[in-house]
Amino acid sequence: MREGQATAIQRLDYTAPAFWIDTVDLTFDLDPAKTRVLNKMRIRRNLDVPAQPLRLDGEELNLARVMVNGGGTSFKMEDNQLVLENLPEGDAPIDLEIFTTCAPAKNTQLSGLYVSHDTFFTQCEAEGFRRITYFLDRPDVMASYTVTLRANKALYPVLLSNGNLVESGDLEDGRHFAKWADPHKKPSYLFALVAGKLVAREQQIKSRAGNNHLLQVFVRPGDLEKTEHAMNSLMASVAWDEARFGLSLDLDRFMIVATSDFNMGAMENKGLNIFNTKYVLASQSTATDVDYANIESVVGHEYFHNWTGNRITCRDWFQLSLKEGLTVFRDQEFSMDMAGSDSARAVKRIEDVRVLRTVQFPEDAGPMAHPVRPDSYVEINNFYTVTIYEKGAEVVRMQHNLVGRDGFAQGMKLYFERHDGHAVTCDDFVQAMADANPDSPLAHHLEPFKRWYSQAGTPRVRAEGQYNADARTYTLTLSQSCPATPGQPTKQPFVIPVSLGLLGADGRAIALQQEGDSEASGTQGTIVLTEPSMSITFANVDSQPVPSLLRGFSAPVILECDFSDADLLNLLAHDTDPFNRWEAGQRLALRLATAAIQAPGEWQQPLLPPEFLEAMRDVLRNPALDAAFKELVLTLPSEAYIAEQLDEVDPQRIHAVREAMRAELASALHADWIWAYEEHQTPGAYRPDAASAGRRALAGLALTMLCLAARQSGDTLWPGKTYQRFKDAGNMTDRFGALAALVGSDHELAQPALQRFHAMFRDEALVLDKWFALQAGAPDRNGNILPAVRALMTHADFQIKNPNRARSVIFSYCNANPGAFHRADGAGYAYWADRVLELDTFNPQVASRLARAMDRWRKLAEPYRTLAREAIERVAAQSTLSNDVREVVTRSLADE
Ligand code: BES
Ligand code: ZN
Repeated sequence: MREGQATAIQRLDYTAPAFWIDTVDLTFDLDPAKTRVLNKMRIRRNLDVPAQPLRLDGEELNLARVMVNGGGTSFKMEDNQLVLENLPEGDAPIDLEIFTTCAPAKNTQLSGLYVSHDTFFTQCEAEGFRRITYFLDRPDVMASYTVTLRANKALYPVLLSNGNLVESGDLEDGRHFAKWADPHKKPSYLFALVAGKLVAREQQIKSRAGNNHLLQVFVRPGDLEKTEHAMNSLMASVAWDEARFGLSLDLDRFMIVATSDFNMGAMENKGLNIFNTKYVLASQSTATDVDYANIESVVGHEYFHNWTGNRITCRDWFQLSLKEGLTVFRDQEFSMDMAGSDSARAVKRIEDVRVLRTVQFPEDAGPMAHPVRPDSYVEINNFYTVTIYEKGAEVVRMQHNLVGRDGFAQGMKLYFERHDGHAVTCDDFVQAMADANPDSPLAHHLEPFKRWYSQAGTPRVRAEGQYNADARTYTLTLSQSCPATPGQPTKQPFVIPVSLGLLGADGRAIALQQEGDSEASGTQGTIVLTEPSMSITFANVDSQPVPSLLRGFSAPVILECDFSDADLLNLLAHDTDPFNRWEAGQRLALRLATAAIQAPGEWQQPLLPPEFLEAMRDVLRNPALDAAFKELVLTLPSEAYIAEQLDEVDPQRIHAVREAMRAELASALHADWIWAYEEHQTPGAYRPDAASAGRRALAGLALTMLCLAARQSGDTLWPGKTYQRFKDAGNMTDRFGALAALVGSDHELAQPALQRFHAMFRDEALVLDKWFALQAGAPDRNGNILPAVRALMTHADFQIKNPNRARSVIFSYCNANPGAFHRADGAGYAYWADRVLELDTFNPQVASRLARAMDRWRKLAEPYRTLAREAIERVAAQSTLSNDVREVVTRSLADE
């Protein structure tokens, strides 16, 4: 859709559909230039709503024929809808037949039916099915699908769609066909087809319930050896959903297909998931530990949608978090359960919170802020956001914590008893949770709890402690507030579970006894903050304690508390809650960073005082802590996270201060980094498990630090060793880590290493993506990155139409390299504007994601702010913008 048609859709305007579609029988004659689609539907009026014409959605279709009950009919076109006004009255079923054609080879948006490497794929969520045929393309219309695919057999030997293969055979002229029937009703966004030259890894499994299933992972010939991890992840996902939630696979056959041209990560089409190759293909020589972990979690995520999303779906797209927030929560829990140890679980939790705070908190404070259940949108594709996903998952996690693990399982059970096979709302989910747990704090505070779904913005919780030595009591006062967001000037109080403990001056956990209680109840408790302000008093406290608040990040809020440096050092050294231990270190580092950033003129060196370095060394050398956890503690807060804490952002200064801090950490702990590197080698066969990956992560950080230190000292030993490691590494994690250490320290060995890396992996698209991303994301030295990025775009392997490749260069620069992107000459912003406009001409979804890179422009210091506004205005001035990009830049420029 192009300019002029953009109208906002309002949540409260929801009305049930005027017709139901009971069955759909689709026949495809697949041809890249012109595919014919015969769509036979059996529909019936929805007698619950006033009689009205049938309006079917359709986009970029050529309509050849419409028939009603076997005969001709009158119809008209209105905008992008096919309108039938004279359908028979009453409740008798109506047979509707629509014949259209479309051009998959010309589909550069990768929404609807498209061709990638001579293979047909579909992507229908959210509104792509209307680009395949005319339909009631909305999630509350659930139908039974039968699909016949016909195509040239030599070119397209594999023909797949949802459900079970019921018939297949040869046709004349070298063609063949396959007929598929889906046993489950589904909304149109879950439809899929795939046709091409593919091969599959197959696995038969028996479920707990005793049923047999066939699992298949389809890839291009040559990629088969790289599918083992995806298949293992799929088997683990099936077993996990049965064990943890009693949810079994409801299909005889479950297929995953990988494609290298995909806008998103992966898609949960019923029984036929379609994945970006990035989240399927892995071998130790081409994929890093992070890739392995991502594959496990994305395979899990899409599989878990089979129940949370597909069996119970969304009534309308405002309810998107019903399936996405819940399914992210489920995939997070799956990854934690797979990781095993408490420490590995904590590491996963910290990683998830880091994403929430560096991406979602800024979204919630910026022009695109919206509630977990939004109230309006122009383009639904713009609302697949970290708020819907990550904050939505936090809202589910709070419910989990408020009703307990078993209570949550009961709530899920009731949710399925009530709503299986239906399209429902976020309210229906929380209601089931509360009804299954009537005595829980969730049930007691249900109405105010629901504000997490309706109010945008990140709440702030301020904590103040008062110790009374005479009475031996400690009173904690918690107060909450939430800043205004677009369209929501004031907020009502949230229900905020604050999990906490108290530490003595010696670091020991203090038993918690609330005033009035006869005895202590362990060393950890939860206060549910429901009022603007609440106080709680603990008795029998012998000395001034240090509060450990919001343990495990028990609510998605910003916690403000006047910790002294000594308090934070105590928490970092002793807290029994690993999350807060990490958090204490981050707070200390943040404090040092912000002090230097805000200091007038040059900052004082050294930036890192001895106490801080000593504490970091203690963590690094602590034999009781896991390597993965150490790596997180020893990593300074990101530039994006530091920026979020400041009212006015000078990205260059943030970058310079953080780099200076890193350099000091590298030099001051030099001997410790050598020790860490040597002690955390992983000899023997490569295994991507959490423990081995943690060791490699810490060794990788150590190598990065040793190269940084060498940059200052002129030492050649460690860069040399790093180059050697780069050449000899037995896996991609170590090889890429070494390469990144050389590039990150701008060593002269970086260029030969990059060349060698490219030569080694010239035929591995996913590895080349890493190669591009590393260079576009490298630390800026005197403005050298933008010219490098421009040069990368002229490289023979650069293709802007491939989303992964476009992201590897353009997004790595604009989104993930603030020190290089924010230039005082505005050239980074001009580059951004050019790319948004360029991408928008063929793929609005990808363009619109890039447009979001400027969300926080209002916080920038001059001259960045003015230059940023000019760049955004230049994009907004383009008259042919897609709705996707138009919505983002309009919000961005809107007065607050
Ligand atoms: N349903 C989405 C895929 C999707 C997203 C379709 C946006 C249409 C528009 C899928 O379940 C999903 O959430 N995928 C994520 C990865 C996931 C692990 C969070 C993605 O593609 O980024
Ligand atoms: Zn999802």
